[in-house]
Order: sequence, then C-alpha cells, then structure tokens
Amino acid sequence: MAELVQEYLDQIRAEHLGNTGGALADYIPELARVDPSALGLSLSLADGYIYESGDFTTEFTIQSVSKPFTYALALDRIGQQAVDAKIGVEPSGEAFNEISVDKATDRPKNPMINAGAIAAVSLIPGTSADDRFAQLHEFYSAFAGRRLGVDHDVYASEKATGSRNRAIAYMLQSFGVLDGDPEEILDVYFRQCAIKVTSTDLARMAATLARGGVEPRSGRRVTSAAVVQRTLSVMVTCGMYDAAGDWVSAVGMPAKSGVGGGITAVLPGQLGIGVYSPLLDDKGHSVRGVEVCRSMSASLGLHFLSVTRESRSTIRAAYDARPGVRVYELHGDLLFAGTEQVLRNIEREYDDFDVAILEVSRVDDIDATARRMLAGMREFLNVAGREGLLVDPDDTLRVAGVPNSTARVFGTLDDALLAAESAVAARRNSDG
Ligand code: DON
Repeated sequence: MAELVQEYLDQIRAEHLGNTGGALADYIPELARVDPSALGLSLSLADGYIYESGDFTTEFTIQSVSKPFTYALALDRIGQQAVDAKIGVEPSGEAFNEISVDKATDRPKNPMINAGAIAAVSLIPGTSADDRFAQLHEFYSAFAGRRLGVDHDVYASEKATGSRNRAIAYMLQSFGVLDGDPEEILDVYFRQCAIKVTSTDLARMAATLARGGVEPRSGRRVTSAAVVQRTLSVMVTCGMYDAAGDWVSAVGMPAKSGVGGGITAVLPGQLGIGVYSPLLDDKGHSVRGVEVCRSMSASLGLHFLSVTRESRSTIRAAYDARPGVRVYELHGDLLFAGTEQVLRNIEREYDDFDVAILEVSRVDDIDATARRMLAGMREFLNVAGREGLLVDPDDTLRVAGVPNSTARVFGTLDDALLAAESAVAARRNSDG
C-alpha cells in the first residue's frame, strides 16, 4: 500500500519539474553554485515512516529554515517570559531582512525575520560563540535524528559580506535588545544558517514538531510541547514573511522557508514535509517548493483548518440495553469538543434512564480536560439521582492522583450490564 503514496509523491514532483521560474540566491557566490533544476521532496509521517522523491539526498544550507529551531532553543533554555521580553510575535508584513524594530516596543517584531532571529541567538545562554553554536547544532541534529554538517564556505562568505545583518545586530544593541557582543552573536547566526540539510532532514525536523517535540524514530523528547506550540504559532503567522497570508490561505500549515531553497511544513499531530528546490521568488521562497506544498495540501487535504468530521462522531452508538439502562459507546479521540457533545447528549436523555454506562474501550486518545469533564459527569449523575458506570478495561479515564473508587469501573460491558441490572432493581425496590 505504501507504493500508492510513493507514486503520488513522484507524480507531484513530476508535475512541477518543468517549472523553471525564479532565480538562485546570488548575494554570495556559493549559493549560486547549485544545480537549479534540483527538486527533492520528502514526507515524514508522525511515526517516522518516510517517503522521498527526486533529489532528497542533495544537501543545501538550511538558511532561514533555522530560525524556528533557534527560537525553540531560546524558549527551551530561558522560558517564554524571558524570550517575550526581547522578541515579539507579531507578523511584520515586511521583508525578512528589514532593518527595523516594533515602534511601540523597540523589540524585533517576530523571531522569523532576521532581527528576531539574531536576537534569539543572543538569548541562548552560553560562554562563547562556540558554546552557543554547539548547543544549537546539537538541538537541530536532535530534531533531524542525525548529526548535521556545516558548509564552511557558505559560513565564511556570509560572515565576510553580511553588512545588512551586521547593521541589524548593531541596531538591536542600540535598542538594548542584544546584551552580548554583536560580532559574536552574528558569528553564531551565520554558522546556524550554514548548517547543511536535505529535504528528508527538513521533513524529519518538521515531524518532530508535528509530534509536539518528540523525535519519531528514537522516541526521544527534544523539547517540550509548550515550546513547540509557541514555535508553530509564529511559523503560522510569520514563517513566510510578507507572503504569510497567502500561504496560510492556500497551504494552511505552519512553515518556514530559506534562501538555500528549503521549505519545511508541519501538520501538527500528523506529518512533516521537506522540499528542496533552489530557484527563488522575489520574496526569497522556493518557487517550486511553494507550488509543491500547495498541490500536496489541496490534493491530500492537509490544510490545518479543514473541518473533516463532526465532533459528535465521538459517540459511536447509544442504545437502551435493558429497561432503565442506557449505553453510550465512545470511540476516536476524546478532546474538549467531543466530550462536551457526550455530556450534552447524556444530560438531554437522563430522564429516560436510571443507569448510564459509558463504554470507552474503543477510545484512542483522551486528554486531561476530557478526563476531568467525564469525572464531573459521574458526580452530576449522582446528584441527579442517576448512576454512571464505566467500561474502561485500560483505565484510560483515571484522573492522575484521584482514586477511581468513586466510580464503578468494569472490564467488560457484560459485567457492567449485570451491575446495572441490580442497581435498577435496587432503585425500583426502594421506590416502593
Ligand atoms: O540572513 C540571511 O540573509 C541569510 N543567511 C538567511 C536568509 C534567509 O534564508 C531568508 N529566507 N528566505
């Protein structure tokens, strides 16, 4: 069956291969020395399974695709509050290398433009440029699941010619955003941009973000879910710079592009995409990279705001199993909205039963909010003179720290039905 997806990927690549629009980045000679026709496409599923097509082994420099990862590292090391004090989260609507800060706050508008990215480097605690870079290099490599290399020629060339970034760093120093030596911070920034990746590395790094900070193949946690949530948020609003609105409308995935020709895109919980094609549009995005992402999103339905199923599908079946005993069978993922539907259904019907049995053995995933809501439901039923029984063989509904003894939990529906019958009989007897 995997061939179907592979064929699909090859087909998308073939469709876009003929598009030769755009130009190579040439602000340093090293970036213009690549094969303009290269097109690599990689897709990593949340479990780490990878599909690859075309030039997926070609290494190129990560450039600005590095920015979300350095931002994540700063958040990871010093916390959101300290990072927010120095870097905003507002889209700038400006080009990536604009020499500007937010007029109201005197901070860079966001961490995806160069000003915010250079500020993010300065926030990584470190004793020297080497120390900071070593942390950053290890962090990126952990996202990719392999040790990444560095293109020393690109680094040296960027360092020798980067007057615009130098202007930005000194401007930030004058606004009190940069504490350290601007030259040292720039050195780390130039090195981070020169880290070498393939489209597959970018797909894997994206998949680690899609998994909330866990690298899928090793199962190793690289950073926290809270850091990832914030990082993905700024990728949505600022990752594609002044083309962010168009990107979100057409593709609908948090993403980041770089002038090396890479794009990484994340569908949270599901997958990561990496594309390499070095011909750029006038905003610095890979022309075919953008087109490939558009096609994949449209034909595979990857837009993160697409509403695919109604939340009431959480209730798989609801029926009267015995007189006075109503069974609710739940399935899928129980999160806030689905659980709210369950509660409202049960509340609407509780005049019609004495005992409700909630069957959750087919539930895949349940979050803390849903657990708390369902615990509250059992109390609510008791107060209303009803009883709630649970079929939960795997103990998925247990709220951490709360003993389950308040609820009556059964391993099978048959056992719960027996208990329900005697509860109904006891009630009817006591009613006279
Ligand atoms: O800072 C720079 O100019 C480059 N090293 C990186 C810029 C970049 O990739 C912008 N993204 N599209």
